[in-house]
Amino acid sequence: KRTKVADLLKDSSLIGTEVEAKGWVRTRRGNKHVQFVQLSDGSTIKNIQIVFDMAKFSDEELKPVTTGSSICVKGMLVESQGKGQTCEVQAESLKVYGTADVESYPLQKKGHTLEFLREIAHLRPRTNTFGAVLRVRSALAFAIHKFFNERGFQYLHTPLITASDCEGAGAMFQVTTLDLNNLPKTEDGKTDYSQDFFGKPTALTVSGQLEGELGATALGEIYTFGPTFRAENSNTPRHLSEFWMIEPEMAFYDITDNMDLAEEFVKYCINYALEHCIDDITFLQDMYDKDLIERLKFVVENDFVRLTYGEGVKILEESGKKFEFPVHWGTDLQSEHERYLVEEHFKKPVILTDYPKEIKAFYMKQNEDGKTVRAMDVLFPHIGEIIGGSEREENYDKLLARIEELDIPMKDMWWYLDTRRFGSVPHSGFGLGFERLVLFVTGMTNIRDVIPFPRTPGKAEF
Ligand code: 4AD
Ligand code: MG
Repeated sequence: KRTKVADLLKDSSLIGTEVEAKGWVRTRRGNKHVQFVQLSDGSTIKNIQIVFDMAKFSDEELKPVTTGSSICVKGMLVESQGKGQTCEVQAESLKVYGTADVESYPLQKKGHTLEFLREIAHLRPRTNTFGAVLRVRSALAFAIHKFFNERGFQYLHTPLITASDCEGAGAMFQVTTLDLNNLPKTEDGKTDYSQDFFGKPTALTVSGQLEGELGATALGEIYTFGPTFRAENSNTPRHLSEFWMIEPEMAFYDITDNMDLAEEFVKYCINYALEHCIDDITFLQDMYDKDLIERLKFVVENDFVRLTYGEGVKILEESGKKFEFPVHWGTDLQSEHERYLVEEHFKKPVILTDYPKEIKAFYMKQNEDGKTVRAMDVLFPHIGEIIGGSEREENYDKLLARIEELDIPMKDMWWYLDTRRFGSVPHSGFGLGFERLVLFVTGMTNIRDVIPFPRTPGKAEF
């Protein structure tokens, strides 16, 4: 029987009918004749106003109706006389589910800083800001599935527990059933993993790509969408220890097809959010970022710039700008370099390709020059790298040589090499960092504020 606040405010056929609203009280104000409650139920950024005619209710009955308490109200939905709302509920009955003590409930009326809200991440979903961010996040997740589903991609579930380090960065969280305080040793003093449940060193995955390639070389076009883990001690506004990644992998795609798909994909997601979450995005724009909607529209409406890493480095070298980290051919680009290209030089999203092979992962397709690989990073204003991807090395001998060159243990890789031994095909894929997309669309500036319960170095409770 409950009608959600979003529907109460939207469905004009409900006006003049008896409705039941349930939610959490944001504020209560008024006088001895009439009391007004702003009620939120999370279905929209907007509140529904509940009007209590104090001829029908006692002060005692309304006493527990304080900020944060949860209530059920039945009454007539009527057009509102007040400014800023279309309709309101004239309360006829009230039930209080749970009270919230005024002294101890941390989310009293006044605005709180984002830093403070991070300390109470268990309650912050109840604020306007986090309600808006989490609804946008949910809509974007749906848009991602919709995009791939409409194009005939299969959703492939890849494992979280793995023995292989896809990115080769050695930044993995170990998973073990062994007693860490009493690790069994082999004769030569190493940890004896044979007694472990998995029988070998295992870790949480940094990427679903390697298994994604197994899927793509069977089903044609797949995508993954799941949590990934990085045990780097990075305390930046762009890094999490646990983040969600979307990784499409496509047989018969070369690097250009890959770039085309990546560009179409992010534009589709941003557009979807603009079409379905405009109330939330407008709220976030008013609160935090005056140019947000203009920036989102600009990205959707304009082509991304495409150039090689080498051309990018040349622009950086010739910019005359003093970077904290000096840049020359061969260096890995830092966030400051990426943002210079995107925000100051081109003023557009940029796709950089053909990076030096030394700074990229082993699986990328090697170019004829012997120096670069067919990598592509998509760089966004305010974010830096939002997507990383490549065409994959499909030649068995070249891939094997690279694996040996990098000293990657063969015993971990034979199954991956089988994709190149049996019916190898050109193929490509990329990974989109989901929180970086949510950052861009919401205009938030810290990645901790776009995931409900962030995991960063040293942070693991709620
Ligand atoms: O560039 P990365 O490391 O690429 C891969 O993992 C490939 N296996 C993807 C592929 O080709 N299938 O990560 C991809 C994206 C980055 O561009 C970034 O958006 C995001 O994942 N990312 C992170 N997001 C939040 N916190 C971190 N620590 C992240 N590391 C990467
Ligand atoms: Mg990358």
